[in-house]
Amino acid sequence: MFPLQRHRRLRQNEAIRALTRENHLRPSDFIVPLFVVEGQNVKEEINSMPNYFRFSLDLLEKEVKELWQMGLKSVLLFVKVDDKLKDNRGKEATNPDGLMQRAIKTVKNAVPEMLVMTDVALDPYSKFGHDGIVENGQIINDRTNSALAQMALSHAQAGADFVAPSDMMDGRILEIRSVLEDAHFYNTGIMSYSAKFASAFYGPFRDALDSAPVDVADVPKNKQTYQMDPANRNEALKESFSDIEEGADIIMVKPGLCYLDIVRDLANEIELPIAVYQVSGEYAMIKAASAKGWLDHDAVMLEQLTAIKRAGATMIASYFAKDAVKLL
Ligand code: PBG
Repeated sequence: MFPLQRHRRLRQNEAIRALTRENHLRPSDFIVPLFVVEGQNVKEEINSMPNYFRFSLDLLEKEVKELWQMGLKSVLLFVKVDDKLKDNRGKEATNPDGLMQRAIKTVKNAVPEMLVMTDVALDPYSKFGHDGIVENGQIINDRTNSALAQMALSHAQAGADFVAPSDMMDGRILEIRSVLEDAHFYNTGIMSYSAKFASAFYGPFRDALDSAPVDVADVPKNKQTYQMDPANRNEALKESFSDIEEGADIIMVKPGLCYLDIVRDLANEIELPIAVYQVSGEYAMIKAASAKGWLDHDAVMLEQLTAIKRAGATMIASYFAKDAVKLL
């Protein structure tokens, strides 16, 4: 007897494939990470991230208008801070006239409806290149949290819609939430990097912001005492549950492709929206291999983004957002 089920019937042509397709990419899935620098008329390509740029505020304005026209309605801001402004506790991070605070206002003035999310972590401001305060070779958890909460407050005051703590200190979501509530920023949301792994895929990002841990005595060489061990799965659930209890509105898994099992675990367990960050190294790999003619750029990009959604992502922070939306 021939098979009762012929699965290929549903794959015969594009019409039936489209009709039975389970997951779709849409422009509204994306958060666009943006790198901001001081200066005028600056659009610098990042070495290890071909076709991705750092923008000065005037060109940031143009860029976000273009994003909005394309249907991209959320941005995640990162700033490259002058070395002279870096210290151990990230004092510059709360400067009301700092680059981040001006960038938030620039975006909100250019496109008032654009959802502005901001990175909250000390590393771009840290002379040691760490997400927290360094003392005696250690990253100091609780004092870092106070600094992060003040940084988040400063972003909220400048007009950020969501703050996105990417540091992985314990208890920082509760501390940030409390400070925001006390200052009556009831509607400022928190997208928490909940399951952020100590990944080697962040290399190009650290080039973009010049934010890698510095190689001097008494400064940890890596971020393994706060970012998670790539070998761990249960711990990712534990971290995410903590952040939810502490008041996170959106949780995040980062990086993307290597951690889709974590995304699915979380999607099965929790009711909150889940963001996935397809990180700089994932972007660089596709760019490099396709530049060599070894991979089909657009096909591989869409396949990976679709896989991230299929795993359970509600939204994706991706350097490919513009490239992808042009194809949708
Ligand atoms: C810093 C931060 C990093 C990224 C986002 N926020 C780097 C790091 O933790 O070292 C990585 C993003 C990317 O690689 O695209 N807190």
